[in-house]
Amino acid sequence: MKAPVTVVGLGPMGKAMAATFLKNGHPTTVWNRTASKAAPLVEQGATLAATPDEALAASELVVISQTDYKAMYSSLDGAQMKGRVLVNLSSGSPDELRRAGEWASGNGAELLTGGVMVPPPGIGQPSAYIFYSGPEELLDRHRETLRELGDTTYVGADHGLSNLYYQAQLYLFWSTLTAYMHSIAMLESAGVSAEQFRPFATETVTSLGIDGPMGFLRIITDEIGAGTYPGGDNTLLMQAVGADHMVETAEAAGIDTLGPRALRDLLWRAVNAGHGADGLTSVINVIRGA
Ligand SMILES: NC(=O)c1ccc[n+]([C@@H]2O[C@H](COP(=O)([O-])OP(=O)(O)OC[C@H]3O[C@@H](n4cnc5c(N)ncnc54)[C@H](OP(=O)(O)O)[C@@H]3O)[C@@H](O)[C@H]2O)c1
Repeated sequence: MKAPVTVVGLGPMGKAMAATFLKNGHPTTVWNRTASKAAPLVEQGATLAATPDEALAASELVVISQTDYKAMYSSLDGAQMKGRVLVNLSSGSPDELRRAGEWASGNGAELLTGGVMVPPPGIGQPSAYIFYSGPEELLDRHRETLRELGDTTYVGADHGLSNLYYQAQLYLFWSTLTAYMHSIAMLESAGVSAEQFRPFATETVTSLGIDGPMGFLRIITDEIGAGTYPGGDNTLLMQAVGADHMVETAEAAGIDTLGPRALRDLLWRAVNAGHGADGLTSVINVIRGA
């Protein structure tokens, strides 16, 4: 007999999670503000709880996947949650998650927070992983069930940490992909297609993560660790002047320039703070607000 689990929230993500628990043989109870969204899951064997109290009573483990943390309060405030392990996998800011930890213990429950690192179709697939934070003992107690969703990557006792990692990853992901779209739009102004550019973009993005002269994730990490940012043949000043040309190119292409200008301004702020002869990594000083 697999452990029972309750899923609160049936947006695309909650639905994928409930379906995955069901497929793996977990008795699954679901609750959603809009009850009709549960119909396909009930067909697959889920039990639809009529109220949040019923949903919480059905299982010790309660997985929550809603738009934000406000949704959890509007769904569960006032419900009987004593002894429950709430695992909120919704997006939020670290401070919101810390407050939620206090709210849960104030109501006799315990909270694990999580940041889900795949879209709904990836849930339960081999590459899926979720950042978890909060009391590790809770994760250990329910790891077997939670592992059905993806790898359980524990990052610390502070409730805020799971979404600190999650937001950091999202920033990296979204800024890389929107920069890719900016690059495509620049090239389109001269009739170059996205498909013609894609192999070059792939080369750049892939090389960032590997070791070697273009392996800038390793290079930047090592420089930040050492606290030194040698300019060598690639001074920040040279790169800031190059960023001016990038903004001029975007303007001439008639595309949105907000992203290129933000990047250019960041580099020039570091130059003006005295880092012109240093390397790109010296920009970390401006980013840190130093
Ligand atoms: N989708 C993704 O690719 C993805 C990937 C990683 C992480 N995430 C995160 O996972 C969470 C869920 O994702 P999703 O795509 O399912 O998002 P979503 O579509 O925004 O979630 C909708 C769910 O939240 C509920 N909800 C919203 N406001 C509510 C309120 N005030 N009271 C009660 N219920 C409320 C909705 O109920 P109703 O059905 O009644 O409206 C529904 O169950 C989000 O925090 C998202 O950032 C999503």
